[in-house]
Amino acid sequence: MKTKVICPGSFDPVTLGHVDIITRASKMFDSVVVGVLNNPAKNPSFTTEERIELLKKATAGLENVEIVAFDGLLADYTRERGITAIVKGLRAVSDFEYEFQQALFNKKLNPDLETLFLTSNSDYMYLSSSGVKQIASLGGDISSFVPECVHDEILKRLK
Ligand code: PNS
Repeated sequence: MKTKVICPGSFDPVTLGHVDIITRASKMFDSVVVGVLNNPAKNPSFTTEERIELLKKATAGLENVEIVAFDGLLADYTRERGITAIVKGLRAVSDFEYEFQQALFNKKLNPDLETLFLTSNSDYMYLSSSGVKQIASLGGDISSFVPECVHDEILKRLK
């Protein structure tokens, strides 16, 4: 059986930490769907279309990776798409409680769905989209936090 997994998130914007998890998932599974949460109520800094474009550029070399927008429940979306597992990165113990709760909610909503956690690359343990946004808005250097191919685009939007 072919394995199709999803890396879901806000990706507002994509960071090197996200790309690391997506890349590692793409080596482990037949196909990886990167699910960009389309929820305007969360007031993202980048539109869904912008976040998708940035992710497409950042993962251009990965042939088994597809970038999509999703809304509603992740448990429903995965069922519709025949996705068997959610793959998420865990940066630190502080992520664990929130992620564990989400995993249990999703398991209740879709018992066929597994959640798999990859340990964050130690280089990116501290990295978050919100940190990137704050640093960029205050004129700081974000070049070691975001993929080079989308650095200028992200910086232009956040400055
Ligand atoms: O990058 P984020 O913001 O931590 O990603 C969160 C995301 C998109 C994975 C999560 O908010 C999500 O799955 N949203 C869809 C709604 C849903 O299914 N909620 C039930 C699980 S608690």
